[in-house]
Amino acid sequence: SQPQLLAGKTITITAGPTREPLDPVRFISNHSSGKMGFGLAHAAVSLGATVNLISGPVTIAPPPGVNLINIETAEQLLEQSLIFAPKSDAFIGCAAVADYRAAAIAEQKMKKQGDELTLTLVKNPDVIAAVASLTEGRPYTVGFAAETQDVASYAKGKLSNKNLDMICANDVSQTGLGFNSDHNALTLFWHNEQKELPVDTKSALALSVMSELAKRL
Ligand code: PMT
Repeated sequence: SQPQLLAGKTITITAGPTREPLDPVRFISNHSSGKMGFGLAHAAVSLGATVNLISGPVTIAPPPGVNLINIETAEQLLEQSLIFAPKSDAFIGCAAVADYRAAAIAEQKMKKQGDELTLTLVKNPDVIAAVASLTEGRPYTVGFAAETQDVASYAKGKLSNKNLDMICANDVSQTGLGFNSDHNALTLFWHNEQKELPVDTKSALALSVMSELAKRL
């Protein structure tokens, strides 16, 4: 068993993809499996935390002992995050949130048309930026950055633009790492510090991330 570094702490973690409907049978989404976020939740429970896990649609089972909240869209993720974040010591945004949703959801199944179809998308709310800008009950706020190029500079940009306390960057262009695999590699950034976590299982990385977080709560 692990040292109870997070005893008495409440951690809210988002995981998985969001799913943005186009019509009753279609949606826009991404390849997030939930493995990284569920790994973080498992690690947090094992270190003694009370854990809320807000998850998009995934096929893996939640770790025992978490409070699981299921959502589909970014707007639902925002609503639940704003309920749980102010009651939490830390908030970790590991969900792969769709940046855009359909401007209008068709009530009936869209019919096949000509050779081209144009979809109008509108921007989704930025969930983690909303949490980080809470004026009452703002938790220690940790983001993830999924990048395919210039990983460090984009991640540091997100750390400061979204007013986060910490960000975990992953290079999702590397095969066998990132989305929907059992392994990953992370670089953790704070405003004045950084730490490399080389390739490992998502479970092992999750435990390292949670130990780093525990030092700062
Ligand atoms: O689920 P797995 O298959 O295990 O894959 C893990 C992962 C690759 C999805 C994970 O490690 C990861 O990188 N998650 C964040 C994915 C992402 O959306 O990254 P981003 O760089 O687009 O977003 C930056 C941060 O802003 C993230 O904390 C994200 O949750 C948050 N965000 C983004 C957009 C938005 N509208 N609202 C947000 O809160």
